[in-house]
Amino acid sequence: MYGFRRNAQGQACLGERPLSELLSESGLESPAYFYDLDAIAHEARALIGGYGDARHVIAFAVKANTAGSVVRTLAAEGTGADVVSGAELEVALACGIPAQKIVMSGVAKRDSELDVAIASGVLAIQAESVEELFRIATRARALGRQARVAFRLNPGVEIDSHAHISTGHDKAKFGIVRADVGRAFEAVDSAGEALVAVGLSAHVGSMLGEVAPYLKSAQHVCEVARARRASRPGLEYVNFGGGFGIDYGSGQAAKPAEFGAAAVALLKAEGLGDLMLAAEPGRSLVGAHGVLVAKVVQSKVSASGSWIMIDAGMNDLLRPALYGAKHRIEPLEREPSLPEWRVVGPVCESSDDFGAHPVGNAVPEYVVIRDAGAYGFVMASEYNGRALASEVFVRGGVITNTSASPGAAAWVKRRLQA
Ligand code: LLP
Repeated sequence: MYGFRRNAQGQACLGERPLSELLSESGLESPAYFYDLDAIAHEARALIGGYGDARHVIAFAVKANTAGSVVRTLAAEGTGADVVSGAELEVALACGIPAQKIVMSGVAKRDSELDVAIASGVLAIQAESVEELFRIATRARALGRQARVAFRLNPGVEIDSHAHISTGHDKAKFGIVRADVGRAFEAVDSAGEALVAVGLSAHVGSMLGEVAPYLKSAQHVCEVARARRASRPGLEYVNFGGGFGIDYGSGQAAKPAEFGAAAVALLKAEGLGDLMLAAEPGRSLVGAHGVLVAKVVQSKVSASGSWIMIDAGMNDLLRPALYGAKHRIEPLEREPSLPEWRVVGPVCESSDDFGAHPVGNAVPEYVVIRDAGAYGFVMASEYNGRALASEVFVRGGVITNTSASPGAAAWVKRRLQA
């Protein structure tokens, strides 16, 4: 048994273990993130299954969850990584992901980050502009190495998602637009030994609920791949990106494995079945398998409404404030029930508001915020002098390790040094 569930007593659990028990066993205080490593491993296996026997690499978008325990769990399932900084690259390598399964994305990679990527021999640095290709060539020459590059193509595909997480339209800062693809290949070909173009990628955005926009963008990648191969050898892989949605409570999105199976079918249909297929999922591997447990600090009932104030805020989970995202919030020790209360955090911002949730008549001691495993802790800040939350990792009902909050005293000390 794994994943978030309710036991017969109605308690919120990870697998068999009530979260309240795990919290007290951890010896940590709220707010605390809890992750189910079994569920994450299972999610990875389900996605990998979608690729059948096609040669592939699932490059986990480490930005979604950078915890060593999570990355090591995925590495053990054979995934690669998509990293967007030198620090993420270090985490991926230290967690045992082989460099040959790592791609580096990002529109503004520093020279020092390019150097580490080139020196460690990653599968490819996914360049997002022609200008970047010239910089990568310069760095490769300085290191006396050849840099393996891929192009992150901007397919010019609009998706039905929040504007902040839609990246594949041609007004976005991301990727190389159609009109510049020729110049990008010229940049590689004129760089001589310094660069070799091994891959093509695209990523249209996050929270895709259906396969169609993914395939539309993938078709563009295939088109460019075929044209390139007609004149030059060397391409090893195509990468159709990530962005597989999860169900935050409003109904199921397409199953990630369906994206994999559709990608394999497309690649074969396009006559490119000999290329390796890459994908860059982040959220779908970890999102549903992490929760944030918060303590109710107090309630407030007034003529204008009813609130529950909790000790986790937008500094701990930014998604609601930044994207208007709704995460289910429920009492920790009993099933959700009406009436709904407005659940808000402690931060002095009106947007520190998680929305209305079925918390029930009696004010609970703790609540659980669901589906916080992706883009949760990684986007946290210390705004308002609030220390980063603790994290607890669970496998087979047992706490494998914890990362304790640095605490308020450490924050005070650092600010006084500033
Ligand atoms: N590849 C690239 C190039 C990306 O930019 C991203 C996400 C991914 C892969 C992984 O996408 P995923 O499978 O996780 O959807 N903070 C936002 C999501 C931002 C996604 C940024 N890029 C959120 O909380 O919804």
